[in-house]
Amino acid sequence: MSLRVGIVGATGAVGEELLQVMEQRRFPVGELVPTASARSSGRVVRFQGRDWPVRPLDRAALRECDVVFLSAGAAVSRALAPELLAGRARLYDNTSAFRLDPAVPLVVPEVNPHRLTPAHRHAAVANCTAILLVLALAPLERRFGLERVVVSTYQAVSGAGRQALERLKDELRRELAGEPLATGGPPPFAFNCIPSIGELDPADTVAARTTGEERKVGDEVRRILERPDLPIVATCVRVPVLRAHSESVLVELRDRDASLADVCAALRAAPGVELRDDVARGVMPMPRLAAGGDGIQVGRIRPADRPGSFTFFLAGDQLRKGAALTAVQLAELQFPR
Ligand SMILES: NC(=O)c1ccc[n+]([C@@H]2O[C@H](COP(=O)([O-])OP(=O)(O)OC[C@H]3O[C@@H](n4cnc5c(N)ncnc54)[C@H](OP(=O)(O)O)[C@@H]3O)[C@@H](O)[C@H]2O)c1
Repeated sequence: MSLRVGIVGATGAVGEELLQVMEQRRFPVGELVPTASARSSGRVVRFQGRDWPVRPLDRAALRECDVVFLSAGAAVSRALAPELLAGRARLYDNTSAFRLDPAVPLVVPEVNPHRLTPAHRHAAVANCTAILLVLALAPLERRFGLERVVVSTYQAVSGAGRQALERLKDELRRELAGEPLATGGPPPFAFNCIPSIGELDPADTVAARTTGEERKVGDEVRRILERPDLPIVATCVRVPVLRAHSESVLVELRDRDASLADVCAALRAAPGVELRDDVARGVMPMPRLAAGGDGIQVGRIRPADRPGSFTFFLAGDQLRKGAALTAVQLAELQFPR
């Protein structure tokens, strides 16, 4: 098999990761069509030992692809997807544009692969924080039933894209050199925690106090687990980590008799989960260890304040498992070798 593969957003943080993941997993790319904005004209991307020129959004070339990974933001996906579906490409969409569209499956391969059928030509890749969280929640939901979830996140700056990452590095260099940071713009990432990710709902309601990222985590996890009734309270925080998100999670289980050993066993057996749960020996999930990995690390597992409630910490590479790897895994499900 030799596929014609397009990437929309090939010069971005997720686009670069897609190239690496496809190369590492020997995804059968015969021809690559890397596209980006007009800003990237003249650039090349390196793939399989050769340079591929980055094209502007070449709709005709993308329509002729077998596979297109959409990774240039929701507005681009919304505009482009209907047009590409008129061609022959299958779309794997890393943006939020269609994640809640009932016609577009929202699939995490380790959790709900059955939702992606051969008939689907457009699949949505969930929000990175939601993917990492649902890998831990799915085995607990299956084995014990979930009653309520409370999650606080520690999200890496690369989650906001390549430019944000460059800004953090620049801020760190300046701070350490004693130079002033630019004033008047968004709050600095360096040596900071910013409890606001994503857009606020402009409506003057209680929901307006919840950020876009917090809404995505709740809505998408509920959709993937097929639990529209599941209460999920999320607080999403940007921290000055370069790569890999972390999450502190409290779960209340329907099965009040579940023991700590039962919960650890369910998590240990779950696909995509590595237990790092021996804090006395320094074994715990951390973004520096999780970066570059294919799943999540889970640890600090302990009972919380009432029977059936437990708390734990997880870390996972949001660019890889939270975006690029999951997108390629979805394509692999539809193009088995
Ligand atoms: N970063 C993450 O950890 C992560 C995780 C999961 C999902 N996502 C989602 O994935 C998408 C990409 O995120 P990212 O972090 O890779 O962003 P990024 O680093 O800012 O890259 C954006 C990419 O889109 C291209 N682009 C922007 N506007 C365009 C336009 N109008 N037409 C064509 N190409 C355009 C950019 O091209 P130029 O280089 O030419 O500007 C670049 O290649 C977003 O929807 C994001 O929410 C990101």
